[in-house]
Amino acid sequence: MPKHHLITAALPYANGPIHIGHLAGCYLPADIYVRYLRLIGEDVIFICGSDEHGVPITLKAQKEGITPQDVVDRYHALMGGAFQNFGISFDYYGRTSSEMHKKTAADFFEKLYNDGVFLEEVTEQYYDEEAQQFLADRYITGTCPSCQNPGAYGDQCEKCGKTLSPSDLIDPKSALSGNVPVLKPTRNWFLPLDRLQPKIEAFMDSRQGWKTNVTGQVRSWLQQGLHPRAMTRDLSWGVPVPSQIPSSEGKVLYVWFDAPIGYISATKEYFQQKGDAEGWKKYWSGDDARLVHFIGKDNIVFHCIIFPSMLMEHGGFVLPDNVPANEFLNLEGDKISTSRNHAVWLHEYLEDFPGKEDELRYVLTSIAPESKDADFSWKDFQTKVNSELVAILGNFVNRVLVLSHKYYEGVVPSDTEIPGDSDARKKVLEAYHHCHTEGNQAIQKMVEALKHYKFREAQAEMMNFVRCGNKFLADTEPWKLQKVDPTAVEAILSYALSLTGNIACACAPFLPRTSEKMFSMLNFSSDEVMKAFWHQGEMVEMMAPGHRLGEVSLLFQNMEDDAIQQQLNKLEAAKMANQTIAEKVVSPPKAEVTFDDFSKIDLRIATILEAQKVPKTDKLMQLLVDTGMDQRTIVSGIAHQYSPEELVGKQIMVLCNLAPRKLKGIESKGMILLAKDSDENLIFVSPVRPTTNGSEVA
Ligand code: MF3
Ligand code: ZN
Repeated sequence: MPKHHLITAALPYANGPIHIGHLAGCYLPADIYVRYLRLIGEDVIFICGSDEHGVPITLKAQKEGITPQDVVDRYHALMGGAFQNFGISFDYYGRTSSEMHKKTAADFFEKLYNDGVFLEEVTEQYYDEEAQQFLADRYITGTCPSCQNPGAYGDQCEKCGKTLSPSDLIDPKSALSGNVPVLKPTRNWFLPLDRLQPKIEAFMDSRQGWKTNVTGQVRSWLQQGLHPRAMTRDLSWGVPVPSQIPSSEGKVLYVWFDAPIGYISATKEYFQQKGDAEGWKKYWSGDDARLVHFIGKDNIVFHCIIFPSMLMEHGGFVLPDNVPANEFLNLEGDKISTSRNHAVWLHEYLEDFPGKEDELRYVLTSIAPESKDADFSWKDFQTKVNSELVAILGNFVNRVLVLSHKYYEGVVPSDTEIPGDSDARKKVLEAYHHCHTEGNQAIQKMVEALKHYKFREAQAEMMNFVRCGNKFLADTEPWKLQKVDPTAVEAILSYALSLTGNIACACAPFLPRTSEKMFSMLNFSSDEVMKAFWHQGEMVEMMAPGHRLGEVSLLFQNMEDDAIQQQLNKLEAAKMANQTIAEKVVSPPKAEVTFDDFSKIDLRIATILEAQKVPKTDKLMQLLVDTGMDQRTIVSGIAHQYSPEELVGKQIMVLCNLAPRKLKGIESKGMILLAKDSDENLIFVSPVRPTTNGSEVA
């Protein structure tokens, strides 16, 4: 029986925008996998949505003086839009504040409650008497017992990284009112994971082909022994605990109880919109349903232990067939951080690099943290775009199409088989056989890797296939052969055009827009050949003689240095903005001066006319500047940070009446003003817009 595949990608929290770490962690691999399943003709739906509950959302709302609903509305729109513009091909992107979701989650909870699954327990929790609220761990601050940081949170000290519980804090205070919270008893419902452990173990044992980073983490949890976990919270933001349940007032479902149910409610909504209200069921139950969760490693316990326990206890649901989780992606050697703004935000990338979605897809997949943490750097991004996408894929396609337009006015030449009756022709035949064998091998490996969630390897094999094409051109050299044996060249280019079409098929899951663009340059409909290619898992014949090609344009462009530098500057600026005053080494203030003291100083705007390094020194630069009053020589210690070329023409500030002095035998008349930061960088003090030389600064 054909399977009904339901592929999910973790519902991102609606409290910040999507960054490249999210993409590499789960959205991109999930999208590649889904596109692959669609290409091989499987019945698949791809579900995601915004996770709109949880304490960080209420905290953010409070900080900004808006409602939690405002927060989630903003980020739901931002994330959904960015995913769409980037080309993540969700069939449905839902949200957990929807009515369908609230009802589905509440009903789910009620069924478990009625079936007696939960443990009911009264525990003492911190309560703010003024705000009349129980306090989530994040809402309690105090002094860290381990490093004495006075601003530690009830769940963690962000200074020393220690995991805490609210009772560990010295002098706990409510973040709502600043008051000392009191302990107050409250009733909550717990999922008895200790009792369910054997079932989880049996479930894990029944699964094969899981990634070792996933099974390793699950095994370690199981080895330590599972404990009951509260599925409700004393909070106001969330899905209310059904009111039929006694003592439910003021309580909501734990965000990790409601969020994964979002996969179910979003599937329901998707089918409801299609006018097939029952359609969702075949993806969630029965032997033909196949569920796969794509997530990041911090979500493993929830998707491999807690959610499956919930599904089992509820009954009637399929359990995940696989949970391919990725490790983390770092950025420029440092952890990606939303709070420190150390990230590449998807919506900003799309603005800064319009039309270059596939470039980011390619690089992120090529460094995907599939088995260990990986690092994204802008320089590496530039290198991969320029030396792989441009130089290998773009170059092949461009050469084939340009030659075809040049020799045959854009019409596919005849594909007559040529006899190996000359050395040149023998070489062509050999190159053809070589390319065909190697190319098909690469395709096979690509398909095998896709099946096993190895997207990095799969994409690398796709590129190996393209390399076969380049080698074929290099071996046959049609541009040389054209004068000697045009018949052989017809055969070469007819095959090269067919290769181009096959490459367009192969790159479809990884580089969907590039694939489309290639088919449009070939002026060829992808429908039939795409199906055949992915069905057979090898090259198919296409581009019959006489077919008219489309217009040629470049598939990719080189990433220029200044575009990359701008991105690096952006990260640097975020870092500077984030350094607290205490971390910055700021020199102590100086003694007071009178206005008279100050007015003795002659500060003026000047333009650098000439610059040259002072020979045999590291730092000295000899400058000729126009001060408006005169042209004079000034020697400045900047040669280790600036080159003469970047100085000429700059307007800068000069202290003009400093007593002249000789440096290395050169008389320096005045001083260029520079700011020196804590890293010893010298930064010119310049007017913010051009002005007349000699303008006084006061
Ligand atoms: N919001 C969670 C995160 O970003 C993921 C939730 S996945 C779901 O880590 F299964 F709960 F939906
Ligand atoms: Zn600490």
